Parts: sequence; C-alpha cells; structure tokens
Amino acid sequence: MSRPSVAVIGAGAFGVRHLAAYRSLGVPVAALVEPDAATRARVAAQYQVPQAYADVAGLLADTTPDAASVCVPGPAHRTVAVALLDAGVPVLVEKPLATTVADAAAIVDTAERTGVLCQPGHLLRHSPPHRALHDAIRAGRLGD
Ligand SMILES: NC(=O)c1ccc[n+]([C@@H]2O[C@H](COP(=O)([O-])OP(=O)(O)OC[C@H]3O[C@@H](n4cnc5c(N)ncnc54)[C@H](O)[C@@H]3O)[C@@H](O)[C@H]2O)c1
Repeated sequence: MSRPSVAVIGAGAFGVRHLAAYRSLGVPVAALVEPDAATRARVAAQYQVPQAYADVAGLLADTTPDAASVCVPGPAHRTVAVALLDAGVPVLVEKPLATTVADAAAIVDTAERTGVLCQPGHLLRHSPPHRALHDAIRAGRLGD
C-alpha cells in the first residue's frame, strides 16, 4: 500500500516540526500552505515540498491531500480546519483545538457532519513519561 501524501498548513515553529516528523516517518509531504512568501519559499526548499500555496483555498483548488496538519495560530484553526474537513481532508489540528468554545464547536460540528477525521494534536498523551504518570494516577499510587 502506498503511503498517504499529506499537506502541512503553516510553516512556523510547529509546522516545521511536523515536516521533520513526516520526513522521519518516510511520509511524503505533497504541499505546504504558508501566507508569508519568504517563509513559504525557504521552508518548501528546506523540506523539498513540491507544491506551496499562500492559502488553503489555493491548495484545495489544485489538489485534495490524503490528510493535513493544521499548524496555524489558534485563532485561525477554525477557518482552516473547517475548509479542509468540508473538502473531505482528515486533519491533525495542533493544540489547542481552538481558542474559543464557538470555534471548537464549529470544528467538531463539521467533523461530525462530514464524517471526516479531526484529531487534536495532544501528542504528549502518548509520550512515555505522561503515560507513566497517567497509569500511576489510575492505579491510585498518588493518592486521591
Ligand atoms: N510552538 C510550540 O511550542 C507549540 C507547542 C504546541 C502546540 N503549538 C501549536 O501549533 C500551532 C502553530 O504554532 P507555532 O508555534 O508554529 O506558530 P508560528 O506563529 O510559529 O507559526 C504559524 C505559521 O502559520 C502561518 N499562518 C497564519 N495563518 C495562516 C493560514 N490561515 N493558513 C496558513 N498558514 C497560516 C503564519 O504565517 C506562521 O508562519 C498553534 O496552534 C500552537 O498552539 C505550538
């Protein structure tokens, strides 16, 4: 089975970490979306991303990636995630899912309406130290 090809939305501090993580997993990143032209060009070249766009509308007009990482600032999560979900693109949305309850509800509503996966990026839930703490609390080793 071929590996999915993903898009990374936002080429800031965390977008670059997602690019590096996909590269380490051998997952091809087909597209980068970043409004700042200089950042877009620099990061696309550094991670050898073949297509780069200034906005999500441009990406979706051209192609439908198998999945996307949403690494834009929190207040922009809703617009970006809803557009991708409406286009049928599963999303990994960096934490926090949104910066207002209304934005979070809009993202969840869109995921439920479309049936497309929306995964908030609470990655530390899977890290060994956090798992160990979780297990200790669940086992009652830290008291009540
Ligand atoms: N930096 C961290 O340590 C950290 C840790 C955990 C979670 N996060 C989350 O990651 C997300 C990104 O944070 P960051 O630190 O990378 O921010 P950043 O400001 O470094 O980068 C955000 C990038 O998104 C771009 N951008 C803005 N609006 C956009 C849009 N509509 N479409 C595409 N690109 C857009 C900006 O130009 C910028 O390059 C946030 O949700 C943040 O909460 C960051």
